Amino acid sequence: MDLFRKKPFALPANSDAVGLSKTLGALDLTTLGVGAIIGTGIFVMTGVAAANHAGPGLVLSFILAGMACVLSALCYSELASSLPVSGSAYAYSYVAFGELIAWILGWDLILEYGVAAAAVASGWSGYFQGLLEGLGIHLPTALSGAYNADKGTVINLPAVIIILLISYLLTRGIKETARFNAIMVIIKISVVLLFIVTGFFYVKPENWTPFLPFGMHGVVNGAATVFFAYIGFDAISTAAEEVKRPQRDLPIGIISSLAICTVLYIVVSLVLTGIVPYQNLNVSDPVSFALRFVDQNMIAGLISVGAIAGMTTVLLVLLFGQTRLLFAISRDGLLPQSLAKVSPKTHTPVRSTWMVGGVIAVLTGLIPLDHLANLTSIGTLFAFLVVSLGVIVLRYTHPHMKRGFKVPWVPFIPLLSAAGCGYLMYNLGSETWTGFLIWLFVGLLIYVLYGYRRSKLNQ
Ligand code: ALA
Repeated sequence: MDLFRKKPFALPANSDAVGLSKTLGALDLTTLGVGAIIGTGIFVMTGVAAANHAGPGLVLSFILAGMACVLSALCYSELASSLPVSGSAYAYSYVAFGELIAWILGWDLILEYGVAAAAVASGWSGYFQGLLEGLGIHLPTALSGAYNADKGTVINLPAVIIILLISYLLTRGIKETARFNAIMVIIKISVVLLFIVTGFFYVKPENWTPFLPFGMHGVVNGAATVFFAYIGFDAISTAAEEVKRPQRDLPIGIISSLAICTVLYIVVSLVLTGIVPYQNLNVSDPVSFALRFVDQNMIAGLISVGAIAGMTTVLLVLLFGQTRLLFAISRDGLLPQSLAKVSPKTHTPVRSTWMVGGVIAVLTGLIPLDHLANLTSIGTLFAFLVVSLGVIVLRYTHPHMKRGFKVPWVPFIPLLSAAGCGYLMYNLGSETWTGFLIWLFVGLLIYVLYGYRRSKLNQ
């Protein structure tokens, strides 16, 4: 049994005559990246991170998590520009480490995008219902949240509907998806800037002291929590087969979207903790809350609308990434090959899109997954870690491969990136680790019982 059989380095010939269509450019990718990144992390999770972990030192948490992401983004850029195929980290590992590790990583990413999408959909539903209530519309309790006998909720209907709508949009075509994403991204960036500009005038520097009420330990825990806010730039690399000039455009898209969001996050966290004493931030909508705190109710309302737009694009790109990943894995035979079918009309993998949308809609509708964000983070950090090591391995095993972008100071930068990700994983707590290991174990069983025999490399 050869668990480490490697895929030869070659771009895949599509099993179908019909492939994905190549229409995306650097600007589309940057917009997709920002679309995926700014969402629940900044609009929801910052509050808890400031109140319970980092205090005003939240800004250091954002810088720390941002640094780990920037290093990983460099590694992603090198691999995405050398192997521009749909499967992203899964596909790179197939060449660098062989089938078993690739499958584990693919399975890990299915968890990442799936749980993240379900968690973000429930955050979306929360903000959306808040907006409806502002207009005097109340959903019946049974339809307002995932199953909870005590609260009387049965299904989170808004979350289900938004997931199905986005799935529908994704099946329509990549250009349509990118256009919708761009409009929503403009709205959310405007709202973030509006927050910064308005909030700036209400900052009281005394709110920043004591700066580190929980010490550096709190800052690191905070970094592991707000890492969720950065997730998403990796999802752009799953679009590789739909990019016109992947070798040039993927690195630009990955690095610039992350850079834009890192700067915005640092400023937002400074302003947020400057307006509101950190102890008060333990709320589910900290960014709007801060402006209500200083009686800017109208702008706070606008921010809620922007947060909804923001989370919509996060959902869009996460679901997109999930479908492209399933597409790539099933094309290799490790999952049923019918999932790799591309519609001749829209050039999108319609079947895998509806499958992903259906499963996530059921999950988010019925199971309260919002507290599972950390599971997403650990899965993502694991992928970043493997990708970073993959850069080093491929430099040795494939020295002449054409690289559109090269990480400087190899192996130093990739090793630093891997160490940073490992350290944040270590700080994520035992409950998260247990969930993660169970998921990997299930994946291993599927591989042994199904993938190993059905793999194209076996034929
Ligand atoms: N980074 C994305 C968010 O904050 C997943 O919602």
